[in-house]
Amino acid sequence: MTTFWSLYVSVLTLGTIFALTWLLLSTRKGQREEITDETVGHAFDGIEEYDNPLPKWWFWLFVGTIIFALGYLVLYPGLGNWKGILPGYSYLDTDKQTEFSNGQPGWTGVHEWEKEMAKADARFGPIFAKFAAMPIEDVAKDPQALKMGGRLFASNCSVCHGSDAKGAYGFPNLTDNDWRWGGEPETIKTTIMNGRHGVMPAWSEVIGEQGVADVSAYVLTNLDGRTLPEGVKADAANGQKIFAANCVACHGPEAKGTPAMGAPNLTHPQAFIYGSNFAQLQQTIRYGRQGQMPAQADLQGNDKVHLLAAYVYSLSHQANEETAKAD
Ligand code: HEC
Ligand code: HEC
Repeated sequence: MTTFWSLYVSVLTLGTIFALTWLLLSTRKGQREEITDETVGHAFDGIEEYDNPLPKWWFWLFVGTIIFALGYLVLYPGLGNWKGILPGYSYLDTDKQTEFSNGQPGWTGVHEWEKEMAKADARFGPIFAKFAAMPIEDVAKDPQALKMGGRLFASNCSVCHGSDAKGAYGFPNLTDNDWRWGGEPETIKTTIMNGRHGVMPAWSEVIGEQGVADVSAYVLTNLDGRTLPEGVKADAANGQKIFAANCVACHGPEAKGTPAMGAPNLTHPQAFIYGSNFAQLQQTIRYGRQGQMPAQADLQGNDKVHLLAAYVYSLSHQANEETAKAD
């Protein structure tokens, strides 16, 4: 802060405090002590005002806030370039100001945050680094790592994938074995680092409305013996032909999906994130879909993403072990 702004802030802050003190004391002067039921004499809508002094507790509370404010401004940075007399704000010294990413001098919330982050990095950095050097499968067996990964997941991923990671409409379940992009540990990490963009083209212009109905019928009846809703005019056999001509390039000849393109398996009802009833299928196929998984590399950095990948990997692998036990 330049000297001008430093002075400006200080004069304005202290001036306000002193003006308020003066106002408080001057209005108190000449007031009587006793409480009466005299009014100030005006009435509005039948409401009148007693002419009594401020309650004592209120007056002293006000005085208390003024003393607190002055004490605070002596102890902490608040008045322009004043650093406060408490230790710990030495980073406001001019020669250390360039330590901050924005190169700006003086106390700001951002600098305070950077200081906290630097402290946290110094404390937890070595732990993150230790896990980052281990293979994801091994990290996924470490209780401490899973706890840290779980916390990162709760604050960064659960908004979309749910706090139990079981997904929601438009957001995939991460606890099962249906992977759109692949469930190998390193693939999961790549997904989280770089994000993913699933592109399912719109088909209404290409195959027409009847084509959309037919191919939807094929996808639906392909799902463990489901049948079409009554009264629907759609030809699943023709849909199969449309599928062979237009869809296998991405979804594969058996409709089991192609992880390299993020094209999902269309034979597992649970694998659908946009719904698998007839109306929902037509909606998806008619207009297409564009699922976006946001990249985390810049937000979390490699070491945290490594932990997140291990956490996500553990979710389906724990489930496997449980089902294995149940079988
Ligand atoms: C803004 C919402 C959003 C947030 C936040 C988000 N995701 Fe996703 N994620 C998605 C969507 C949507 C997809 C599906 C992309 C697609 O359509 O292919 C996805 C896909 C994934 C996949 C691939 C699943 C598969 O079947 O291959 C993984 C793994 C994943 N997310 C993990 C995470 C983790 C870990 C975080 C937290 C760091 C996270 N996501 C945060 C929306 C989100
Ligand atoms: C260019 C590759 C490509 C082609 C061709 C393609 N799809 Fe897709 N499809 C995708 C991708 C990628 C997704 C995932 C979109 C997302 O995650 O948002 C998808 C999603 C879907 C879904 C939704 C699955 C869910 O999770 O709810 C259905 C249904 C579907 N496709 C059916 C078809 C049919 C039927 C055809 C042929 C008419 C077809 N697709 C052709 C790439 C393709």
